[in-house]
Amino acid sequence: MQEATRPAEAEQDWHADAFDLARGVAAYTGSPLLKGVARVIGRYPQAAIANAFNHKQVACKTWARDRLFECAGGAFGRICIVGGWYGVLAGMLLEDHRFTIGQIENSDIDPDVAAIAQTLNEAFGDRFRALTADMYRLDYMRLRPDLVINTSCEHIPDLRAWLSLIPSGTRVLLQSNDYFAHPTHVACVNSLAEFEKLARLSRVDFAGELPQKKYTRFMLIGRV
Ligand SMILES: C[S@@+](CC[C@H](N)C(=O)[O-])C[C@H]1O[C@@H](n2cnc3c(N)ncnc32)[C@H](O)[C@@H]1O
Repeated sequence: MQEATRPAEAEQDWHADAFDLARGVAAYTGSPLLKGVARVIGRYPQAAIANAFNHKQVACKTWARDRLFECAGGAFGRICIVGGWYGVLAGMLLEDHRFTIGQIENSDIDPDVAAIAQTLNEAFGDRFRALTADMYRLDYMRLRPDLVINTSCEHIPDLRAWLSLIPSGTRVLLQSNDYFAHPTHVACVNSLAEFEKLARLSRVDFAGELPQKKYTRFMLIGRV
């Protein structure tokens, strides 16, 4: 009997510990985003926030944020992040003082993630909005974003068809990878050159790769 209850108790203890730890780290750093991480752990114990905020995900998003600032500066009216999951990159951009951003709209096709993304980014008020949407069905003409970000290109079947929906001249930041073995990666690329060829951007301001332990991440910043 005691054996059977042990794992659940251990899990519960670890969840309480993770919540306490995240709150402590948030208080120590003064980071609104880390406060959001603690809030998500407390309110949504089932959320995969440890995965979305692990050191590899953070490294890829820090890379995106820094190269974006170098290429395009920090002033943006509206940013659309598609396939944005829990909105980690949105939070990282909104709390970075180099950037002045009117609003980030973070959308994802998974209906379970918007409430979690909104909780993670609660500190940013109206400057953050989470919605459930298929990126192939968004009206980019109406949204008129200054920047469209898609760090989930490996998750969509036809990158070119999606890019063709975005008004020409719009700035985009795209990431993909060569992690073919992952079950939800339907469209990885073998190299940065293949990614560039597939995207066919009208202008490329940055093209680079970030080697990770199991795969390489590729990034393009430019205009459609
Ligand atoms: C695992 S996550 C993000 C991984 C990525 N490397 C990152 O952190 O940016 C991929 C997300 O893409 C979303 N997604 C897949 N197809 C989509 C579509 N057609 N429209 C919007 N979101 C989509 C999934 O629901 C998922 O939340």
